Amino acid sequence: MSETIYAIERLAPEHDLGDFDCGQDYYNAWLARHAEEANARGTAAVYLLVRRRDGIAPRVCGYFAICPTMVRSDGAPRQIERAMMQQAPGWLIAKLALDRSLRGGTWGRELLREAIEEIVRSADRGGGQVIVVDAENERVFDWYRAQGFLGTGIDNLRLFMKVSTARKYLNP
Ligand SMILES: CC(C)(COP(=O)(O)OP(=O)(O)OC[C@H]1O[C@@H](n2cnc3c(N)ncnc32)[C@H](O)[C@@H]1OP(=O)(O)O)[C@@H](O)C(=O)NCCC(=O)NCCS
Repeated sequence: MSETIYAIERLAPEHDLGDFDCGQDYYNAWLARHAEEANARGTAAVYLLVRRRDGIAPRVCGYFAICPTMVRSDGAPRQIERAMMQQAPGWLIAKLALDRSLRGGTWGRELLREAIEEIVRSADRGGGQVIVVDAENERVFDWYRAQGFLGTGIDNLRLFMKVSTARKYLNP
């Protein structure tokens, strides 16, 4: 019987990005039109969730893009603001999206966990104090909050997680 494997892979030329559909045109278009260039030029590192099954072409079922960034402490919730410099080195989850076929279950959390794991690995080598993500809207803001990110939500959809907290998130 053929086995189905889901793997996180760094975006490479052999990946077929055309079939991906997360239900949001913006995220579909970014993957199809901009991800390769961003990945190649180093503006972001793009990772894919790829489904592999014997005899069937691999299918991209999710992706995330991360990059280093400078994070300003204003706009951060108190407990994070206190722990960081006014301008701190950090990491941005620039994109994260899941194919419709996998939405509504545990795969969204899994994909986010993979993104955080990749960031923590990078921070262990190259530093960085805080992880940030800019939610698309309030629904997505609430989703990130449910996953442990903190944000004030007051005229500001940016969410934060300290890298030290992320380490605990990965190894509870
Ligand atoms: C964010 C995401 C990975 C989470 O996946 P998941 O854990 O399977 O969660 P769901 O897809 O069930 O989404 C959770 C809730 O957020 C809502 N939601 C997700 N993305 C949304 C968006 N872009 N706009 C509005 N609502 C959104 C869903 O409708 C759902 O609402 P419900 O609980 O009332 O049904 C996935 O929803 C996704 O790929 N969304 C589209 C891309 C996106 O918006 N990414 C966020 C980048 S900041």
